[in-house]
Amino acid sequence: MKAVSPSIRLGERSQYCGTPTLDQVGQRVTLFGWVDSRRDHGGVIFVDLRDRTGLVQVVFQPELAPDAHEMADRLRNEYVVGIAGVIRPRADGMANPRLATGEVEVYAEELIIYNAAKPLPFQMADGKPQVDETARLRYRYLDLRQPWMQEAMIARSRMNRVIRNTMAEQGFLEIETPILTKSTPEGARDYLVPSRVHAGEFFALPQSPQIFKQLLMVAGYDRYFQIARCFRDEDLRADRQPEFTQLDVEMSFPSQDQILEIHENLVIQLIAEIAGSKVESPIPRMTYDEAMRRYGSDKPDTRFGLELVDLGDVLAGSSFKVFSEAATVKALNIPEGSGKISRSQIDALTEFVRGFGARGLAYLKVGEASGPVAKNLSEGEIAAIVARMGAKPGDLIFFAADQEKTVYDVLGRLRLKLGEDLGLIPEGRFDLLWVTDFPMFEYDAEEGRYYAMHHPFTSPRDEDLASLEQDPLAARAKAYDLVLNGSEIGGGSLRIYRRDVQEQVFRLLGMSEEEWNQKFGFMLAAFDFGTPPHGGLALGLDRILTLLIGRDSIRDVIAFPKTQSAKDLMAEAPSPVDGKQLRELHIQLRS
Ligand code: AMO
Ligand code: AMP
Repeated sequence: MKAVSPSIRLGERSQYCGTPTLDQVGQRVTLFGWVDSRRDHGGVIFVDLRDRTGLVQVVFQPELAPDAHEMADRLRNEYVVGIAGVIRPRADGMANPRLATGEVEVYAEELIIYNAAKPLPFQMADGKPQVDETARLRYRYLDLRQPWMQEAMIARSRMNRVIRNTMAEQGFLEIETPILTKSTPEGARDYLVPSRVHAGEFFALPQSPQIFKQLLMVAGYDRYFQIARCFRDEDLRADRQPEFTQLDVEMSFPSQDQILEIHENLVIQLIAEIAGSKVESPIPRMTYDEAMRRYGSDKPDTRFGLELVDLGDVLAGSSFKVFSEAATVKALNIPEGSGKISRSQIDALTEFVRGFGARGLAYLKVGEASGPVAKNLSEGEIAAIVARMGAKPGDLIFFAADQEKTVYDVLGRLRLKLGEDLGLIPEGRFDLLWVTDFPMFEYDAEEGRYYAMHHPFTSPRDEDLASLEQDPLAARAKAYDLVLNGSEIGGGSLRIYRRDVQEQVFRLLGMSEEEWNQKFGFMLAAFDFGTPPHGGLALGLDRILTLLIGRDSIRDVIAFPKTQSAKDLMAEAPSPVDGKQLRELHIQLRS
């Protein structure tokens, strides 16, 4: 350790690097940090010293502090140093308005070099890192050292603090639930942990604390919350990680309105405190059926229009079989689209929708008689379509004709793509929406069985309970999702709290009594000992923060995330383990 530093002591930092200002001129300070850059201006050395609060310029003058100056010559980027010196105003015209400390500099009197640094695999960026993400993930500690990532981590800490304070103020108890547990019901694949003590047996990591929070209600702990880690082995996307964090909440004797209000107020508060934007409450609510009908999605982005319009009745008798023989025909009208979207763009959009199962992408340029669809339709049909769509000459109408599910999927995605491509989505806005009354079940035709749309503990609506068995697909659940700018940021439900109803739902899901007892017997047993009506919700905190600070990927708000292929590039996990460990776990690998 090199030192010219009689007075620099660890633990005696006077302030952080980002904080010296004009009103502190003349004060003697001790700063610690990383060398962001070093410039030698003919004898005088300037060092930008950086910590997680920002940068300050440090000046080493040979006449003022010859020893420190001589040592400063050896400084290189990312060396870790301490300096003691005096805050001075910058000379006239030398202020840097881009820095919070830009009106001052620190004249160093002493310097201590704690550690050197090799040349970095990539340069520290002062904004969004431009380097390849693989390098960032491999050297995550360097990536995290950059202000852009530090800003995200600091916002994350603030978010958690706001949540804890607000939940505590409202009388919620923070209770931890196990990580080593049994398979939980969120419908993804489990991460399993083999037991050494019990040969051939496995723990599962929780996909959520769902069962435990319900059991906490049985145990009388009304108003539970937890900032909980969840583990799901599923296909990853920009907004999905195998390991992610929920604000998990459960209440006893709640009404649905009460649960929705508590959560929307919390999210509105987070938007205000983290993004600095105001959202009015109450936020809009829409049933699942309406969301699908209008937007083709159960998580509609309501920041722009471009809604789906049904043309089934208008085209039922058409001689154009593509339309008249389809189960569902719906369309989108793009105002002035004929001039905005070229033929080759239409071809690209056709390829895009084919990727989601569309057989084609019929279109109509309003006011033009030619075109692949216009020539197949009568004048009367075209007039009726134009009237239904509320279109005018120059508009462009896209059609999807198929099974309802495909039509929704195709037009819902096309709508989002056009919204983005045509710049219809306003910047800086936060549109919150509750989607309610989800279906209880969805049917998997390939496997010939029903799945719970939310999870199997979700209560059907009272009015649908009687007809549950006769028409499962018509049954609606007391389930709700919270949507922010087209992203699902939370979901929850009122729960089943009676054994008979729970068993009925398990049966509909194709489970045998033996199976449900083996999986969830401990929970059903609890239902026999006095279970209060209860319900709750979980917010996806990684997703919320991604949106609030305007990042493209969930990985940019998680300190140590996994790649799209579920790997930790820095720690190189997962990784093989040695034979002894495997033997202890009673595991033999297939070659
Ligand atoms: P659900 O499965 O809807 O509900 O999850 C709640 C919220 O968690 C977020 N989320 C994810 N975020 C990142 N990566 C993932 N892989 C991921 N999966 C989900 C979403 C989602 O809205 N136990 C129930 C809640 C309840 O019923 O109370 C549950 O987990 O934002
Ligand atoms: P065709 O009669 O096959 O030439 O199709 C006429 C137009 O309808 C073309 O633009 C096709 O892309 C489109 N098209 C074909 N099938 C469908 C469908 N199921 N939904 C929407 N458009 C379709």
